[in-house]
Order: sequence, then structure tokens, then C-alpha cells
Amino acid sequence: MSQLKTDFLVIGSGIAGLSYAYKVADYFHQKGEKITVTIITKTHEEESNTKYAQGGIAAVTKGTDSFESHIKDTLIAGDGLCDEEVVRLVVEEAPERIQELIELGTKFDKTATGDYDLAKEGGHSDHRILHYKDVTGNEIARALIQKVENHPNIKILNHHFAIDIITQHHLGEKVTRATPDKKCFGAYVLNRKTGAINTVLSKITLLATGGIGQAYLSTTNPPIATGDGIAMAYRAKAQINNMEFVQFHPTALYNPTDNPAFLISEAVRGAGAILRDHKGKAFMEKYDKRKDLASRDIVARAIDSELKKSGNHFVYLDATMIEKEKLQEHFPNIYDKCLSIGLDLTKDYIPVVPAAHYLCGGVNVNTQAQTSIQQLYACGECSNTGLHGANRLASNSLIEALVYSHRAFNKGIEEVKHNRFQDNIPDWDDTGTRIENEEILVTQARIELQTILSDYVGIVRSEKRLKRAISRLKLIFNESEELYTQSKITVSICELRNLRSIAYLVTKAAQSRKESVGLHYIAK
Ligand code: FAD
Ligand code: SIN
Repeated sequence: MSQLKTDFLVIGSGIAGLSYAYKVADYFHQKGEKITVTIITKTHEEESNTKYAQGGIAAVTKGTDSFESHIKDTLIAGDGLCDEEVVRLVVEEAPERIQELIELGTKFDKTATGDYDLAKEGGHSDHRILHYKDVTGNEIARALIQKVENHPNIKILNHHFAIDIITQHHLGEKVTRATPDKKCFGAYVLNRKTGAINTVLSKITLLATGGIGQAYLSTTNPPIATGDGIAMAYRAKAQINNMEFVQFHPTALYNPTDNPAFLISEAVRGAGAILRDHKGKAFMEKYDKRKDLASRDIVARAIDSELKKSGNHFVYLDATMIEKEKLQEHFPNIYDKCLSIGLDLTKDYIPVVPAAHYLCGGVNVNTQAQTSIQQLYACGECSNTGLHGANRLASNSLIEALVYSHRAFNKGIEEVKHNRFQDNIPDWDDTGTRIENEEILVTQARIELQTILSDYVGIVRSEKRLKRAISRLKLIFNESEELYTQSKITVSICELRNLRSIAYLVTKAAQSRKESVGLHYIAK
């Protein structure tokens, strides 16, 4: 066991963690002050939800668009539950953050006249999505990783898994959700290569651990998305909210064995594609006057309803009206993926189905990205800022992460001067545990949990299904607790422990919200 001290501990290497780490490190570097920023990431620094983002990043960047319009669209999508102050600040600060991203080396597509080629997605009343082909997230991550990797003040620890954040609880004090002065002192971190569990002490910790998609059987999120940051914060007694608002993307490619499910970007519908049933009939006009470009909750529910009525497993997305050149130019990744499975988008319809995609809630933060635990910040998908309310507007996630990581940076560089490393934090103690040699106990419990959430806490919910989910989850809770307390720590056991907390939080939140709103829809 070893102990590491770092001024700033950043857990996660997606857009939130990378942009924050770079800003903090560079700020002190420019001032000639030596500080350390450590990024830990559970696989490789390139693996994150960010890497897979396709459609783009929303911001008002052209004269004919307006902040008021972006604000209005966000509020409408959020179905009355957005925090208006937060919506305004994110929308108004977005152009400046985009400019910084460009200065850091991110490329966005331009038209022949040199203007940004702005795309449109569901719920947006204007073309305002900056994108780099259909691989925007990968391009943003590329630029940020290049900056971070070469920075003298930043250390990246790949294949390091954060198990728990450290608070007074680890000094033997009783900590409850009501304890007012809870503090974070760092995290216990498993080095996946050596198996050692290290104590990482920090003056400021940022949770930037991303989403929860892997709590469901079918998801667009990569395997890293197991809600670890939210589960850690929950165990440390932070405030968590809006967990019932799980967004299903309407159009994941139907291929039940794919994990993650391959996304067919909403920008394809923005470019003219339409949904059709198995008879080839367009059906979205029955559900919303915006048809295929209604907000995601509405489109996903419409597809779910079509599937329930027809008994089919997928509907079709028809992109044949989009010119081949446009498909190849704007959507090369999607075009090639479809071609690889024998679908020619200029002639064939794409079989699609909704898949778990994005969590609107998470760890509560104020407008400086501070959680209810001192010295602990959160931004990106694991946080609950109030921007999304009951349903996120397309392409508002990457921009939220940027705006909030900037705000966390501004607050953190002030705060760090006053914070000290905590003494007397005990090493991780695993006496009495043994190596679990029946991995099937872990994998099976994970599948059961995913099945429960998918069947009972999916796009359409009912009181009976939610009740059933809670009673099934209790069993998984007990079994996984036994595994966790009696076994040597492994990533799969920790992920199961985190997923069961996520499943519980989503289901409990869904049970407490009696009315249908946004993504939370209770069958009558
Ligand atoms: P992530 O990018 O998910 O990064 C999380 C990081 O935390 C990873 O590095 C992970 O390894 C690390 N981590 C997690 N747990 C631990 C742990 N216990 N220990 C150590 N490290 C840990 N949004 C948009 O705005 N526009 C889009 O076009 C768009 N398209 C999308 C397409 C797809 C297929 C998906 C899946 C999402 C899309 N989104 C889009 C959503 C958006 O990509 C994410 O919400 C956003 O990238 C989240 O960024 P993040 O930094 O919060 O987390
Ligand atoms: C997409 O490209 O459809 C995803 C956009 C998003 O999740 O915001």
C-alpha cells in the first residue's frame, strides 16, 4: 500500500475531467507555481463517453440565432424542471468555452463559405450544433488529451479505479447526509495492474466519472459507464437528485449483441431522416407536431409504443433521402458502420431501437460545481446542475461539462490555497478477505440488475413494476454486499456494488415521483 499526495485529484478523463485538469495545471504553470494535478482513469485515458459523442456541441455562434432561443428550447425539453438561472448561465457562457476549445486545437466542420457548419437536432429551433463529422467527442478528446499528456503539472494514472472517496468517516467519525461539514480528503484507488489499493490524498477532488448507461441491458454508453462517481458520492452521504430522469436515445442501431449499442446520431434526423414502421409508414406525426425532431423523450416513447403495438423488436430509420455525398461527408462513421453490416444508407432502412443513453440527474452541485461535501466538486454527466430538468436537450451535455469544469476551475484555484492534506488517514484494510474464484456470481448479478432496470424502470414505468424492481434489487443488494465485504477488491465487484446503488437510486426516485414528467413516464 502506498500513499500519494496531489493538490488536485481528478477522477475521470472525459471532457469534464480533462478540461478541468488542463485549466488548473496551466493556470499555476503560467504563474510559475508548482502544484500537482493527478488524473485517474479506470481504463485508458481515451476511453470515456466523451469519445463516442457524435452529434456535436450546442452553442449560439451565429448572428441569426439567440441566447433566448437556446434557453427556451432547453426549458421546453426540460419539461418545467430546469433551473432557469443555470440554463441561462450555461447558454450564455457556452460561446466563450467553445472558443477556448478551438484555441486548444479542436476542429469543427465549416461550410464552403468558412462559417461553422451548424447541425440541427431534436428540440432545437435552430441549427446550432457545432460538430466534427459524426465523431465530435473523439475530436474534442483528442485535442484535450494532447494538451494534458504534455503538461508538466499533470500526472495521468491509467488503469486506476477509484473505490471510495475519503471523508471523516474513515477517521472513525459518524457521518450522515445531514452532517453539515463533511469533507473529502481524497480517494482510495485500486491500481489494476498491481492490485494494490493506494490512498490518494488531495486538497481538492473532482468527480468527473460520467454516466450510468451500463445499469441497463442496452446502452450507447461504453463499459466504463457504471455510475461509480455517483455511487461513491452517495456512500459518502452527498446529496443526489433527479436520478429518475434516464434518457433513452431513440435511435441506437438494432443489434442485440452489441455492447455498447452503436448510435445513429440524432443529427441524421436533423438532416432529414425519418422513422418508419415495418410497413414503411412514417409514424411520428401521430405523436408530436415536430414529428421526427420532437425532443428525445417523446420520440423514444413513440417508438416504444409502436414496438408494444406491433410486437416487433425495432423500427426503421429511413435516411435514403439524404444525398450520398452528404452522408459520407457528415456521417462517415455511421455510414461505414452500416455498410460493414450490409446496410447501404442510400438504399436501405436502418433498424433502430431506443437505448439507455444519458443520466440527467446525479450529484447535486451549486453553480461553482461544488457538491454538498466540502473539497469535493463534480461536473459532467455525474453531476446534477439543474440544466437538464426532466429531459436533456440534444448536445447540451458536452457544453454543460465545459461550462461547469470552467466554473469548478475558477473556484478551485482560490479554494486550494486554504486547504491542507489530512493526516492520519488509515491505509485500506482488507484483512480477512479472500480471492473470489467464482466470477459467475458477479457477472450474473450484474445481468440480473440490468434486466430489472430495463424491464421495470425503462422508458415507460408503472407503480407495480417499480415495486417489483425494488424487491428484486434488495436480493442483489444483499448478495453483492456479501461479495464486497468478504472478497479481495476487484473492479467487477466494485462496479456491481456501484451499479446496485445506481439501480436503487433510479428506482427509488422513480417511485417517489408520482406524476409523468419529461423522461419519467408512468403508465396509466
Ligand atoms: P465521460 O466522458 O464518460 O468520462 C468519464 C471518465 O471517468 C472516464 O475516463 C472513465 O474511465 C472515468 N471513470 C469512471 N469511473 C471511474 C472510477 N471508478 N475510477 C477511475 N475513473 C473512472 N453529448 C453531447 O452533448 N453531444 C453529443 O453529440 C453526444 N453524443 C453522445 C453519443 C454517445 C454514443 C454517448 C454515449 C453520449 C453522447 N453524449 C453527447 C453525451 C456525452 O458524450 C457525455 O454526457 C459526456 O461526454 C460525459 O462527459 P464526462 O466527462 O462527464 O464523462
Ligand atoms: C446524437 O448524436 O444523437 C447524440 C447527441 C446527444 O446525446 O446529445
